[in-house]
Amino acid sequence: MPEPCPDGYQEICALKELKALKTIGFTYLKGEQELNAFIVYKKGEIYAYQNSCPHTGVTLNWQPNQFLSFDEEVIQCAMHGAQFRINDGFCQRGPCRGQSLVGIEVAICGEIVIICPSNKE
Ligand code: FES
Repeated sequence: MPEPCPDGYQEICALKELKALKTIGFTYLKGEQELNAFIVYKKGEIYAYQNSCPHTGVTLNWQPNQFLSFDEEVIQCAMHGAQFRINDGFCQRGPCRGQSLVGIEVAICGEIVIICPSNKE
């Protein structure tokens, strides 16, 4: 029997859509503040981060839902090219080397990807 969705969750997208696009940007509320974020699907795993480069705080994507390098091996900032590991958001190349993206807790609930209520506090 599948786990029930937690109370207060926010739907991000259909799992099928994420598998097709590989990365999807979205917004969520943390307290009263609306934050940009994105999810990445890679090899059956899902990773989510705030969409804010540690270098200057700008959003990372170069087009809607485009967060990865051309070879899709790293998350890449469109501004100055910082590269972050997909699995933990650690910056391994670029001006903010050694810093990390801020992770977000997400889950799969049935056939949808959700952001967990804990991120809203
Ligand atoms: S703003 Fe992201 S690398 Fe400079």
